[in-house]
Amino acid sequence: MNTFKKIEELRAELLKYRLENKKIGLVPTMGALHHGHISLVEQAKEKSDVVAVSIFVNPTQFNNPEDLEKYPRNIERDLDLLKKAGCDIVFTPEVTEMYAGSHDLKISFGVLENSLEGKFRPGHFSGVGQIVSKLFNIFQPDSAFFGQKDLQQFFIIKKLIDQLCFPIELHMIPTKREDNGLAMSSRNERLTQEEKLEAGLIYQTLKQSAEAILEGTSIHHVIEQANELFEKNERLTLEYFEVVETENFTGISTVSDPKTTALCIAAEIGKVRLIDNLLLNY
Ligand code: PAF
Repeated sequence: MNTFKKIEELRAELLKYRLENKKIGLVPTMGALHHGHISLVEQAKEKSDVVAVSIFVNPTQFNNPEDLEKYPRNIERDLDLLKKAGCDIVFTPEVTEMYAGSHDLKISFGVLENSLEGKFRPGHFSGVGQIVSKLFNIFQPDSAFFGQKDLQQFFIIKKLIDQLCFPIELHMIPTKREDNGLAMSSRNERLTQEEKLEAGLIYQTLKQSAEAILEGTSIHHVIEQANELFEKNERLTLEYFEVVETENFTGISTVSDPKTTALCIAAEIGKVRLIDNLLLNY
């Protein structure tokens, strides 16, 4: 496994593979890797000749400075996990490498940027679009792999690829979960064991709600019930629970197509913000 910190050196290495007609699969990450990330690497290995992973905590996508400062970082452990997973190339640039010179170009994603997560994290998706475009241009991968846990981010990236004509095959990989259903996330490292157990309520609520909707309960009623469940819990604070159409991530009151309907939650526990989702036809 080769590790690079400089864009030019990474490009030179990737060119060697490209000249051999090797297919490059990219897994962009912010590090603090867990099984969820490793499953992305495994999928990338299955579908490409060369697996590249980027580790970069991107400051422009953090709307909350405390979240950026406290974001877990453990590069030695990450490199160890990636080596074991059979990754070929790792890119670990400094902020000064990724944001050298001016960087005032902004990408706007219309309603998708301002709905749901976008509403609660102003500027977040614009920052994601900016860094992922840079990574796509640097790596020029044949395919790219993202987790379903960040479902709205996946659709932001789909829009980026479709509308800016990146010749990249996009893959969404299902969320990995703990035994109690808690979605694996780097932010879970900031939770105590008890908080992790309590946070299982997020997935339980998603599952119960999806089942209720499929059995014919109204979305309005399901949302009310979910709010009641969280009100009874002393540790978890619900930020939002919404049933949305994945086209625009705005709330709906009736389901038109289960395949494009998602249930989404954001909740806080011990100052850590967690998100999760289920597609209705999960
Ligand atoms: O999902 C993430 O870890 C990040 O948002 C990404 C896609 C690596 C961009 O910084």
